[in-house]
Amino acid sequence: MIAPSKFLLGAMLCSAVLAISHGESKGSKSGSTPSQSGGTGDGSGSSTSDSIYKLTISNKIKAESIFEMDTFIESNINYATDGGIYAELIANRAFQNPAGTMNGFNPSASDEIGHGTTEFWTEVGKADLALVSTNPLSDALPQSATITYNSQKTAAFGSGIVSNRAIYGIANEGFFGIPIKAQKYILNFWMRSDAEGDAVIHTGLYSKDMSVTYVEDKTSRKLTKEWTMYTVKLVSSKSSDKLDNIFAIFLEVGNKNPTVQVNLISLMPPCWKGTVARPDVAQAILDFAPKSIRYPGGNDLQGPTLNARFDWKQTIGPLHKRKGRLGNWHGWNTEGFGLVEAMNFITAAGAKPIVGVWAGLTGDGKVVAQNELGPYVRDAVEMLHFLLDTKGEWADMRVKNGGPREPYPIEKVMIGNEGQLPATKDTYGYRWAAFSQGIQRDFPHLTLIATAPVDTTTDVDSLNDPLYGTPSDFVSKYNLYDRLGEAFGSNKDLKHYNLEFAVINSGQGGPDENIWIGPHRLHHSILQGSLAEAIFILGMEKNGDIIGGSAYAPELANDSNDGAHTQSTPGALEFDVTKVVKSTSYLIQQGISRNPFDQIHEVETSFDVKNANIYYSAGSNKRTKQYVVRLVNYDASEKVVSVEIEGLSVRRVNRYQIHNDDPNISNDLEHPNNILPKEDVLPSDAFSQGSIKITLPKYSFTTLTIST
Ligand SMILES: *[C@@H]1O[C@H](CO)[C@@H](O)[C@H](O)[C@H]1NC(C)=O
Ligand SMILES: *[C@@H]1O[C@H](CO)[C@@H](O)[C@H](O)[C@H]1NC(C)=O
Repeated sequence: MIAPSKFLLGAMLCSAVLAISHGESKGSKSGSTPSQSGGTGDGSGSSTSDSIYKLTISNKIKAESIFEMDTFIESNINYATDGGIYAELIANRAFQNPAGTMNGFNPSASDEIGHGTTEFWTEVGKADLALVSTNPLSDALPQSATITYNSQKTAAFGSGIVSNRAIYGIANEGFFGIPIKAQKYILNFWMRSDAEGDAVIHTGLYSKDMSVTYVEDKTSRKLTKEWTMYTVKLVSSKSSDKLDNIFAIFLEVGNKNPTVQVNLISLMPPCWKGTVARPDVAQAILDFAPKSIRYPGGNDLQGPTLNARFDWKQTIGPLHKRKGRLGNWHGWNTEGFGLVEAMNFITAAGAKPIVGVWAGLTGDGKVVAQNELGPYVRDAVEMLHFLLDTKGEWADMRVKNGGPREPYPIEKVMIGNEGQLPATKDTYGYRWAAFSQGIQRDFPHLTLIATAPVDTTTDVDSLNDPLYGTPSDFVSKYNLYDRLGEAFGSNKDLKHYNLEFAVINSGQGGPDENIWIGPHRLHHSILQGSLAEAIFILGMEKNGDIIGGSAYAPELANDSNDGAHTQSTPGALEFDVTKVVKSTSYLIQQGISRNPFDQIHEVETSFDVKNANIYYSAGSNKRTKQYVVRLVNYDASEKVVSVEIEGLSVRRVNRYQIHNDDPNISNDLEHPNNILPKEDVLPSDAFSQGSIKITLPKYSFTTLTIST
């Protein structure tokens, strides 16, 4: 029913394949004065005086943990997908970007297809660029562009001039510049003309004023009235240190000067490992080693309007059959990073997908009535058949659309997004019931995660609790999950998730009335905020028998030009077109994700966590048999702690540590390496006395991986 195989799928369009390597406090001494003496400052803590901060890890397993440190590729927001992880270099490649403004949940832009603009495109030479609806390329792309010769035009482009060439065409400036490296690019474009005959078509990469040509292809083509897709390999032997380069497609001025109609002009650099992902972004996600990756969403799953909801069937198949949709946060989702491309990327990154299904609510606050939900439930169930069936019609369709023969390793499905928001929470009960029952009938083994508390908690297995706030909001929730049994007394088996959280406001200089728009909203993660998040995560890990996983949001953020076009700050990974920066939050969570434990152990402490400002979690790893202890020193002074594993002698200790004396420090595009993890092996004199003695620098996060 989809994708005649002669058409290239998005996943095959990249110009090359790049392989990249993977990579409760007992409080018995609460109130005692923290000691600052004894620390050597070198982190090995070879002090002789006894620390008053003592942690004793029981050698007995308290509970099995299901906790995972995950990530969340939130689509559309901050250009995470188009212009972000999706390697496509041409912005508005099919003239879909809508007119009108986008303001998150209140678009005045049209959500109808065929109402695009020429945003990001400019005329080059003696050309007129116009949008037309005649002779559409496909039902999905009803509007295309015409390039017409105009002898009256003085050939100008931007601030520069192409006066030395008699040409007419169009140029694209890329999402926020086109990076040019000495590498191969694959260009695909569709073209037709009413004037049949031969024409020489030029395509290439140039400096902004076209004074420098990095690579240019010049091919004589037979133009026909039928749309034809042309593929060009553009191999640049030069690279550019500038970002404001352009891509251009044009004809030479001659006798005939036919008008050409173009659409879906796509330029792909080398991608990561058979996916359509940008290699450096992919590598950064890989470095994290997430167990699961949540996709798509959050608000962009809902979509700004019903017409612009995430509709999985519109995200698969040949690119010229994908109509895309109005983005929730800006522009138009091309859906080039569609369901199959996303699932292929997530599994290639060694993670399991946590998929969201659209659940009857849109960003404009409209909700589908209970008696009209049927077709949407069917859509969600069919999406899961497409992703999970081992054989039959849906499995065949998955393979035909670029997916694998074997099903994707999906175990968890989220029903909607942020169903708890006030305007809609009253409807979540019936929406949850309809979707969860529909899905459970065909997929009884899936874990279904509710995105709002429902009235009858007894029929909900799992619940997502998003959290955004200030550092102190997060620190105060260290013990939140210790008490969950009481809060959800009627359903003791309820599992919790926190698949979107972030410290978004520094809380410094007094609390803002509104943390989202107040003056202390953070642009980048700061160390203090990231440590506060870590304290919250450690609290979840301690309760890993009932907390299934956690993910920072958003994962990706275009931060070019000082974040002027970022819709939600901070981001775990901030990028422009040339680099990806790992934030302090990312680096701390990486230390958790890479060193997981799946068995929780009880910890006895000689101190009260809140007084000492030292927070912890501890457990062991079934497979490696190692113990894992995490410590956050949230204090302005260093602390010498001792860690003992009851009855066991320590053989080797690996340390992963994030620390800086300045709690306000951030990594950003200008200063990507302000803070880097320290990874080392503790000298054996740090644990020669049976317990591990270690100095925790002020404002530090430490994971110790201990072999006994
Ligand atoms: C990223 O930020 C830059 C600068 O603010 C902006 O021009 C651009 O449109 C944004 N998005 C993308 C995908 O480039
Ligand atoms: C962090 O920044 C805030 C706001 O600029 C400032 O008030 C505070 O003193 C800084 N903290 C430290 C320890 O420098």
